[in-house]
Amino acid sequence: MVNFGAVNNEDMMLRRPRRNRKSEAVRNLVEETSLSVKDLIFPLFLIDGFNKKVEVNSMPGIFRFSQDQLLREIEECMKLGIRGFDVFPAYPESLKNEAATESYNPETFYLKALREIKKQFPEVCLMSDVAMDPYSSDGHDGLVKDGKILNDETLEILGRMSLAQADAGVDILGPSDMMDGRVGYIRSLLDESGFTDTSIMSYTAKYASAFYGPFRDALDSAPKFGDKKTYQMNPANSQEALIEAALDTEEGADFLMVKPALSYLDIIKLLSENSPLPIAAYNVSGEYSMIKAAARQGWLDSDRAMQEVLLSIKRSGAKIILSYFAKEFATLSK
Ligand code: PBG
Repeated sequence: MVNFGAVNNEDMMLRRPRRNRKSEAVRNLVEETSLSVKDLIFPLFLIDGFNKKVEVNSMPGIFRFSQDQLLREIEECMKLGIRGFDVFPAYPESLKNEAATESYNPETFYLKALREIKKQFPEVCLMSDVAMDPYSSDGHDGLVKDGKILNDETLEILGRMSLAQADAGVDILGPSDMMDGRVGYIRSLLDESGFTDTSIMSYTAKYASAFYGPFRDALDSAPKFGDKKTYQMNPANSQEALIEAALDTEEGADFLMVKPALSYLDIIKLLSENSPLPIAAYNVSGEYSMIKAAARQGWLDSDRAMQEVLLSIKRSGAKIILSYFAKEFATLSK
C-alpha cells in the first residue's frame, strides 16, 4: 500500500499533547499559572479639590479623583477583593518648583489623602510614589541644574519625601526615580526615624519607555526639556538590570520591580531567577491604553486581552502586578 506520509498512530504518536487540553476540567488540572486579585495593586490618580472624578483622556475607564471620590473608589475596589493601592498625585503648575518642596509639605493634599486612606481603611496595603516629577517645575525625577540631573543632591529631597509619606502611614514606598543609591539612603533615614516597618518596593529596572505617555498626560508630568535617558535604563540592556537588582538588594529593598512589563518579560524572568526577593511588574499606562484603544475600534476583545497580558506577566515570574486593569479583572473574577 502507498504511504502518503500520513502519521501512523500506533508507531509514531504515543505522545499526544492535545489529550491534556481535551476538556476544561483537564485543562484546569494542568494549568501552571493562576491569577488572583490578591496579586494585584491598583494605581490611582489623585487631584486636589472636592467631588471631582475626571476621566483621563488617553486612558478610558481610568479617572483622576479628589480625595472624597478616591475613598469611595477604594471602598468599591475593596468589595471586589483588591487590597493593594498605589496613589499618584497630579499637581497644578502653581505648586511646582525646582526643588519639589511641595512633596514634603505635611499639609499638602497628597499626604493628607494618604493619611485619610489609612485611617478609614487600615487593612489596605497602601503604596506611594517617591520621585520629584509630579512636583518639579522641570518635570524630571531628579534635581536639575544647568540641564543636568544632580544625583546626590536629589537624594536629600527623596529622603524628605519618603519620611513625609512614611509619617502619613504608607505601607510601601515606591522610589521610581532611578537615582543611584536612593534605596540605601531612604532605608537608613527611615530606620533612624523609627520607620523600620515601612517597606520599600524599588523600581529596580525602570526603562526609558514610550509606554509612560498616557501616565504623563494623567499627571501633566512630562519633562519640560530633554528625556529621562540619563537615569532610566536603555531598552537594549538586560545585564544592567542584574546590577540594579544586586544594589537594591544590598541597600535593603523588600521588593524589586520591573517596568514596563510587556516589552520586558525577559527582564522579569531574569530577576525572578536571580533574586529571592519578590518581583513586581508594572503593567504601565501605555500598555493599558493600547488594549483599550484597539478594543474601542472593535479590533480585539479587551477582557480576553487583559487576562492574557496579566497571565503572561505572572508566568514570566512576577509575584505582584501593578495594573490599571485591576478593578476590571476583579469585577470579571467575581
Ligand atoms: C514617575 C513615574 C512614572 C510612572 C510611574 N512613576 C512616569 C515616568 O517615569 O515618566 C509611569 C507609570 C505608567 O506609565 O503607568 N516617576
